[in-house]
Amino acid sequence: MINCKKVIFKEITDNRGKMIPIEYPKQLEFPLKRIYYIYDVDKGIRRGYHSHNDLEQILIAVHGKVKVLIKTPFEEEIIELTNPNEGLYIGPMIWREMFDFEDGAVLLVLANHEYDENDYIRDYNDYEKKAKQYFKESSEEK
Ligand code: TYD
Repeated sequence: MINCKKVIFKEITDNRGKMIPIEYPKQLEFPLKRIYYIYDVDKGIRRGYHSHNDLEQILIAVHGKVKVLIKTPFEEEIIELTNPNEGLYIGPMIWREMFDFEDGAVLLVLANHEYDENDYIRDYNDYEKKAKQYFKESSEEK
């Protein structure tokens, strides 16, 4: 889907277990400015319901499974993150909702900017208008 992609991180496995390093620019295409993680999310809870104007993020279910709806005015997809080696890259102007957190699931988010409420679009109608304009302009630039 436009401005989104699955990324697979390389696991380093030995007889002590597994680890995944994520370093810019080796495994990460943007310099990291912020991380946060979401956990203790009860069944039936759905979070997100927003887009960002500029922010780029990678979502990783470092423990447990989490579903993510990614959506534009033109298409939508549900991605299930099931393994700590899978990341979901979400670029600008993508509406996202995170739901069906498995018991104990931890969703790690890597972001290329500090927290900025002004970068959020939290109203879906507002998002739809801005996204139509954004994707029209980005297709005209090609
Ligand atoms: P919010 O973006 O609504 O969470 P979600 O995307 O999961 O729905 O953020 C919840 C609260 O946390 C909100 O008051 C803003 C605050 N917050 C920060 O202070 N820093 C951050 O990096 C993030 C993501 C949120």
